[in-house]
Amino acid sequence: MRVLQAVVHNQLMRLPPIRRLAQNRHRTGLQSDSARAQVVFEELSRHLPRDVSGLKILELGPGKGWSLAQIARSRGAMYGGFDVCRYLTQEQAGFFDLGYSIGDGDVLPFPDRMFDVVWSHSVLEHVRSPERLLAEVNRVLAAGGLFVSSIDLQSHYHDRRDASVMYDFLRYSERLWNLMADQRSIWVNRLRKTDWCTLFGNAGFQILLDQPRHVANDLSDFRKCRYLSSVSDEDLLVAGVLLVAAAAPVAPSR
Ligand SMILES: C[S@@+](CC[C@H](N)C(=O)[O-])C[C@H]1O[C@@H](n2cnc3c(N)ncnc32)[C@H](O)[C@@H]1O
Repeated sequence: MRVLQAVVHNQLMRLPPIRRLAQNRHRTGLQSDSARAQVVFEELSRHLPRDVSGLKILELGPGKGWSLAQIARSRGAMYGGFDVCRYLTQEQAGFFDLGYSIGDGDVLPFPDRMFDVVWSHSVLEHVRSPERLLAEVNRVLAAGGLFVSSIDLQSHYHDRRDASVMYDFLRYSERLWNLMADQRSIWVNRLRKTDWCTLFGNAGFQILLDQPRHVANDLSDFRKCRYLSSVSDEDLLVAGVLLVAAAAPVAPSR
């Protein structure tokens, strides 16, 4: 019944009025909680070699939050935003002096090597074409530029301490999961930490730091769940990761 309900709910989301209603009501995370944004700003910016003054930063997936942009601008950064859904009003988008752009996520509408830093918070797990996006991030980063991404690897909608549902989305085949969720904000691409490290490497990034956020549970709690049997011990114990990666060096022109 739960699965059927999810499939029906998901298909209803294809109707434009329902979609619009859901989008208006959807909470995207930080929203513009300035205290939480301050914490996230420190978490992301502490990995940069210097303060943000004068840096060109691109935020992927700001959602309904403009506070990171506001903080970065107040510290002298220049700031762009990119999302797949237009959540911000024109006035809110005004914090993004380098532009707030909307697209399908396969192409970032910015010139090559425009940014010193690209960062994202709770976004990569929602990305539909991760390989394509990573290639694009690499393209828009200046030589030596950094991509700092905090990735949430748990279900956003179940008890985050309960091992039996923490990775609930892995219960289903890919086809069924898409039928249940691909029109909704609960949809995640289900990549694990080790998958992300491989994808970053394949995209030409040099990973400088992979900082896991470990679960408090024991491995044995997960091993009771048959649907998790193919997940490695390492991936079961990591509920989130912060990756800091340097862009591929620019090939010398001939
Ligand atoms: C869970 S919300 C996080 C919002 C915000 N970063 C925060 O932490 O509060 C995920 C955001 O990622 C955006 N998103 C999904 N796919 C994306 C993509 N390919 N490129 C950029 N943003 C994307 C969604 O539209 C949404 O705004």
